[in-house]
Amino acid sequence: MTASIQTALAKFPDIALFTAPTPIQRLERLERALGDACRGVKIFVKRDDHMELGGGGGNKLRKLEFHLGAARAEGADTIITVGGVQSNHARLTAAAAAKLGLACELMLSRAVPRAEDGYDDNGNVLLDRLFGAQVSISAAGTDPFALAQQRAETLRAAGRKVYLMPSGGSTAIGALGYVRCALEIIGQEEALGEQFREVVVANGSSGTHAGLAAGFTMLDRGAAMVRSYSVLADPEPTRQKTLQLLCDTLKLLGDSRVPGEEAIDVDGAFRGPGYGLPTDPMIEAVRLLAAHEGLLLDPVYSGKAFAGLLAAIRQGHYAPGDSVLFVMTGGIPGLYVYQSVFR
Ligand SMILES: Cc1ncc(COP(=O)(O)O)c(C=O)c1O
Repeated sequence: MTASIQTALAKFPDIALFTAPTPIQRLERLERALGDACRGVKIFVKRDDHMELGGGGGNKLRKLEFHLGAARAEGADTIITVGGVQSNHARLTAAAAAKLGLACELMLSRAVPRAEDGYDDNGNVLLDRLFGAQVSISAAGTDPFALAQQRAETLRAAGRKVYLMPSGGSTAIGALGYVRCALEIIGQEEALGEQFREVVVANGSSGTHAGLAAGFTMLDRGAAMVRSYSVLADPEPTRQKTLQLLCDTLKLLGDSRVPGEEAIDVDGAFRGPGYGLPTDPMIEAVRLLAAHEGLLLDPVYSGKAFAGLLAAIRQGHYAPGDSVLFVMTGGIPGLYVYQSVFR
């Protein structure tokens, strides 16, 4: 099974951007701090925030391995992508492009109504510029992908070879990175002597959830082994988008299974008032993990998703003895533009 997935993945060109597998570690001090509320659940994290490139890495590097492999196969010399002002995907695209000697343009939009704490210049934006990307920021409500398409046309007319990626790199090609992550997790389960009941992730543009779900489907563990917390859009459209991307990814890999509606579970209860807007449960989650494990969640994605996981544990969603794996997806530079929230 594992070998056939590896064979299917090997048909797609990729470029190694980090050392795999990323570590999995158990959060025993956090479990003790939660006390009876932990209900005997074993909490593990997969450290996708622990990669060599671009300010700690993050989930986007897994997608970028396949996107940039495709870009190189097409002979691209310029990468263009889009996102919110503090996009982690944009920052990691800039870092990877720097490493590969490719030009990079980032079309960012004001998706979050936030100006304090150096929101437009610090955190990811500071790093985008250090990595040499050309950054442009458009007003809220503009469609950055339409702007990026126009820019790509202009550059192509001038003879450049442009590879254009949508928000979050979340296409079936990008999701292949998380199909490979599912393979990693299965191998690590064996080494740890654990079988995870669930894998929990934040859901923004859905590629991480969809890729993992495709991987676990192909491994016969079932897509429903993955659960996500929507932090960007409403849960139902996010669930539909994730399901579509799961189907597209399976198809791309030549797997004829067509997952049903029940394959994708997205919880929208921890987004709070909106994308990028702080919530008390997020603040508690970031503080807890920092103070008890020395680990950093981010305020926009993993902090809200981990808050959801903590609530699920406290509400008895898992049975005593269950092991749950949370994927730490990075985004740490974002903490620096939420400084006042953590005072
Ligand atoms: C730190 C972090 N975690 C999680 C996510 C969510 O991943 P996806 O967009 O694949 O749903 C993102 C997406 O931008 C992110 O930056």
